[in-house]
Amino acid sequence: MIHVFGSINVDFVFRMRRMPGPGETVMADESLTLHGGKGANQAVAAARALGRPGGVAMHGAVGDDPFGPVIRAAMEAEGIDVSGIRTVADPTGRAVILLDDTGENSITVAAGANARLQADAPAYGGPGDLLVMQMEVPFDEVAKAATIARAAGCTVLLNLAPAPEGASAEAMADLLGQVDILVVNEHELALACTALGLTAGDSIPAAVAALAARIGCRIIATLGAEGVCRGLPGGDVLTLPAIPVDVVDTTGAGDTFVGAYAAGLAEGLSDEAALQRAVAAAALTCRKVGAQSAMPRAEEIDALLAGRSATA
Ligand code: RIB
Ligand code: NA
Repeated sequence: MIHVFGSINVDFVFRMRRMPGPGETVMADESLTLHGGKGANQAVAAARALGRPGGVAMHGAVGDDPFGPVIRAAMEAEGIDVSGIRTVADPTGRAVILLDDTGENSITVAAGANARLQADAPAYGGPGDLLVMQMEVPFDEVAKAATIARAAGCTVLLNLAPAPEGASAEAMADLLGQVDILVVNEHELALACTALGLTAGDSIPAAVAALAARIGCRIIATLGAEGVCRGLPGGDVLTLPAIPVDVVDTTGAGDTFVGAYAAGLAEGLSDEAALQRAVAAAALTCRKVGAQSAMPRAEEIDALLAGRSATA
């Protein structure tokens, strides 16, 4: 079972030719109200990549507003166990996403209900289960959930996004010490290295290897068009290329990667096969607007991978 502990947002997406500068108003060509939040996105990506209901449970919080029930129902329709989604008095988390013609985006998030999320035992399974987390909910609760899951024998996957800038090096080191698999982008990788007193080195593979050795866990750095780099504590480093696609909107690509990777692990794929599937799923998400609205189903991921191995 994959347990996701994390944020749930409504995404207000504005498509425009170019981003507004300070003090400027730019008319949008289109606006969309979509379901997002890194936690919910990862849960949906995992459920779709699994291709069967009942494999994912969401632990999160929505507001006592019209968005709450709609989001809950949508996640349930994806085959996700939503019994761990609480309703709290604050508004549902909101993200404003500005998207320009080149596929570039800017995002700001108001945590709302997500700030109320609390970790409580014994919700995150045991041996053979995977707890997937990100940083859009309170830092201390993420750390607490990791402790609970670890004690129960569950594998902890942390996506260090968005980078927790305000956390002390000590708190970061404590949190990272509880993680079995850490997924970071380039910026988050540097932040984690700094928190642990590691010099990031002059290359990503070197930083990934150093961090994996220090924490004693699997590190996966997602590098956008450069693909992914995975380091193991023993020093092994593997790099996989990205799959080129026509990019419309990269929103949710990182979340899709995490969800699809978790699904691959839950299905018992080798780590390399799970990474490959995650790379393909993330590429597909870049081809459409939005996060959950763009995430592929298992058949689409398989078709992309089959097409590539046929032409290889
Ligand atoms: O990672 C993408 C997500 O970040 C969006 O869905 C938005 O809600 C923000 O949380
Ligand atoms: Na997208």
